[in-house]
Amino acid sequence: MGELTDSAWATGVALVIGGSGGIGQAVCRVLAEGGSHVALTYRRGREAAEVAATAVEAAGRRAEIAPLSLEEPEAVKRLVDGVAERFGGIHSVVYAAGPPVHMIPIGELTPDRWSAVIDADVKGFFNLTWAALPHLRASKGALAAVITAAVERVPARDIMSAAPKCAIEMLVRGVAKEEGRNGVRANCVGPGWIDAGLGAQVMAEELTPEQIERIRKAIPLRRFGAARDVAEAVAFLLSSRARFITGQSLAVDGGMQL
Ligand SMILES: NC(=O)c1ccc[n+]([C@@H]2O[C@H](COP(=O)([O-])OP(=O)(O)OC[C@H]3O[C@@H](n4cnc5c(N)ncnc54)[C@H](OP(=O)(O)O)[C@@H]3O)[C@@H](O)[C@H]2O)c1
Repeated sequence: MGELTDSAWATGVALVIGGSGGIGQAVCRVLAEGGSHVALTYRRGREAAEVAATAVEAAGRRAEIAPLSLEEPEAVKRLVDGVAERFGGIHSVVYAAGPPVHMIPIGELTPDRWSAVIDADVKGFFNLTWAALPHLRASKGALAAVITAAVERVPARDIMSAAPKCAIEMLVRGVAKEEGRNGVRANCVGPGWIDAGLGAQVMAEELTPEQIERIRKAIPLRRFGAARDVAEAVAFLLSSRARFITGQSLAVDGGMQL
């Protein structure tokens, strides 16, 4: 058991969408250390999902993995309903998914690329919310969405990430406002530059060492985050320690947006 063993996680399961991702894997691990079973999804990265499931089982919890594309509402509903049935409820839902995004200036984006990112991220997150809400009402559970710290101050060439996450943030706040009376909480975590998953990939493939060093120096804590830094914030917001917190966004960015 970890430090954050939570009584609210004793029955049912946490569902982590994008559990094969750099951040999603860490979320699965931290939730399991806190005492939760974890059902996690992947889109193409089955091996990464298996690594996350192994970490959950190593923490003494049950893990289940399933492929999922968020663009298909009925498939999302089938997955969510099935997980709830097999585990006896869903106490937490984590959106840690997101399509691959690239650092492209708005002037060079095409309508096709824009549609693809909106479909996968904004529509995908709505599909998840639609499927998950009945189960969260039943468990008086919590939703956490991993967005981006860029919702506050958009860096140049980051609109593919920032704009969809702004829509997701507003949807989360809407859920918090409308579903609080049903005992459901909903919050966001906004990563800054994380040295895992998408962040690590963008640094490796789209930035020069000089650009990376300039970014690092602009972060008050003078380092990039780890996936676990984000996962700890997600776990806190889902836990009963955050039972009076809803509709909030917590930046995990080393102070980058100050
Ligand atoms: N890492 C960072 O520095 C950083 C910073 C700010 C914001 N974020 C945001 O945080 C989220 C997680 O980041 P990450 O670094 O963990 O990214 P990642 O490693 O690329 O993981 C993305 C996850 O989303 C899944 N996914 C992608 N498209 C999907 C779709 N259409 N339907 C269902 N699942 C889908 C992926 O599945 P497969 O890999 O199995 O295909 C993977 O599990 C992303 O939305 C990202 O934009 C990350």
